[in-house]
Amino acid sequence: MQVVAFVNQKGGVGKTTVCRTLCSMLAKNGKKVLVIDLDPQQSLSLSVGVVEDRFDYQTPSIYNVLSEDMPIEQAILGMDEGYDIVRADNRLYSYTGEEIIKLDDIPNFADDPTGLHNYIMNKYRRLTDPSTDDKHKLRRQIERIAQYYDFVLCDTNPDLGWTLTSVLMSAPVVNLIVPAFTEDSSREAIIALDKSIKTIMAHDLSQKINILGVLIARYENNNLSKHYVDFLSQTAKAIGTSLFNTLIPKSVAVPEAMAFKDDLFEGRGGTILSQYTNFYNEFIERIESVNS
Ligand SMILES: Nc1ncnc2c1ncn2[C@@H]1O[C@H](COP(=O)(O)OP(=O)(O)OP(=O)(O)O)[C@@H](O)[C@H]1O
Ligand SMILES: [Mg+2]
Repeated sequence: MQVVAFVNQKGGVGKTTVCRTLCSMLAKNGKKVLVIDLDPQQSLSLSVGVVEDRFDYQTPSIYNVLSEDMPIEQAILGMDEGYDIVRADNRLYSYTGEEIIKLDDIPNFADDPTGLHNYIMNKYRRLTDPSTDDKHKLRRQIERIAQYYDFVLCDTNPDLGWTLTSVLMSAPVVNLIVPAFTEDSSREAIIALDKSIKTIMAHDLSQKINILGVLIARYENNNLSKHYVDFLSQTAKAIGTSLFNTLIPKSVAVPEAMAFKDDLFEGRGGTILSQYTNFYNEFIERIESVNS
């Protein structure tokens, strides 16, 4: 089983679109796939129709899995397209992991400083031990179901906080795809991501994070876009990776598919599909080569 995460803290650069399309393609090619939507915006869950009401707190979600230790298998939903999904939840917006001190618990220790000391020490021990800590929660949950899948895909939110850290530590080897649009701000975002990756790897030398590549997820055939392709190619190189050769073209098929809640392949043709097929082949080649 390989974990593949779609990351870029720059918002609206194609993470969800690429994640969803790759997910369908893997399933169509007979791979067993689970996709986990970790974005409180719930874009992926909404676009595939597993979330209709943003405030549905009844259907189990990744929030229940991470904050309440619900076994992940209880939150897995099967999709007609042949893959499984764990839906997101907007309560992830305010969830930043377990607190060392819960304010509600403080009154219990009003006359008991030794009790408070022991409480804090126990919490500290729990939160820094990799077999019980917070940042490895997602990893422990993925381990439960790893044997059933070839790929676990993670769609992430556009920031570099707790959720992204959990994703970067969600398996001994985590593979990243960095979608980017041809625009200025993408460079800074990629450099900041690289810093987060290096910080995690410096703290845990056994953690492997492979950046499979930067993918231009919306390309227009004009001089400005060509300039940004060169620019992003240098940025990718600076962080030890490269651009995927495939350039995904800008196409109305993407917002159309989103509006109809179906995947890009549903009755659509054109360059975007052939380019997604090229990307799929490149993805398979790269993931096999870095993990062989
Ligand atoms: N190839 C494309 N052609 C045209 N529009 C596209 C293409 N790829 C993505 N888009 C559009 O760009 C917008 C952003 O895409 P998407 O939601 O995949 O980005 P994101 O990085 O997941 O955003 P967020 O950071 O908010 O999670 C969407 O409206 C999507 O329909
Ligand atoms: Mg998204």
